[in-house]
Amino acid sequence: MERSLIRKEVIPFLKMFGALILATAITDALLHMFDMVWVGRWLGIPGVILILLSFFYSMRKRKKISFGKPKTLLILHESLTWIGALMILVHAGIHIYTILPWLALIAMMINVISGMTGKYLLDRSHRFLADKKEFYAQQSLSEEAIEKKLFWDATTFDVMKKWRAVHLPITLAFTVLGIAHILSIFLFWEWK
Ligand code: HEM
Repeated sequence: MERSLIRKEVIPFLKMFGALILATAITDALLHMFDMVWVGRWLGIPGVILILLSFFYSMRKRKKISFGKPKTLLILHESLTWIGALMILVHAGIHIYTILPWLALIAMMINVISGMTGKYLLDRSHRFLADKKEFYAQQSLSEEAIEKKLFWDATTFDVMKKWRAVHLPITLAFTVLGIAHILSIFLFWEWK
């Protein structure tokens, strides 16, 4: 049991997080190598856009939109935030000179780490719910309907409820700090 927890959750988590840090270091080194460090200054913008696009999942979940399969949107959420975080990390690497962007960056990293933790907890609740599938199948629900039911069931599982107590408030903190950082850039912009 313990071994399988490490194999199914801990190692994939470390790989996903490690890949993010490695990709940041490589991108940063390449920008330096090709004398393109200035690119990093602008990477904050597409990074934020990708993270905003990733919120289609949340909008779908909260019924603000009705298009898109929840599972696909969640995969998109995970991928877009990964790439967005990469861009913001590279962006942050070159010109942090005040405290505000540091705080925003710390909040983002807690967000990312909690997100990755949640991903594997969600997988775990999925595995627990596999049994439930039998039950739904007996009620002659369609394959697609079962898939959807299981998906939402898994996200309301106990462990997920507890996990959300971290992922959601830290999103709020990240948003506030991110907006404060962006506003301060506009306020002190040197128009030259
Ligand atoms: C900048 C980074 C991130 C932000 C701001 C963020 C924000 C959010 C928000 C607002 C939700 C919506 C939940 C809801 O509406 O109930 C969510 C859900 C979720 N996020 Fe993230 N997230 C980030 C990174 C990640 C990463 C890197 C992963 C995994 C690789 C991840 C995995 C998840 C999962 C699995 C859920 C769904 C769980 C559920 O439905 O309760 N997140 N995230």
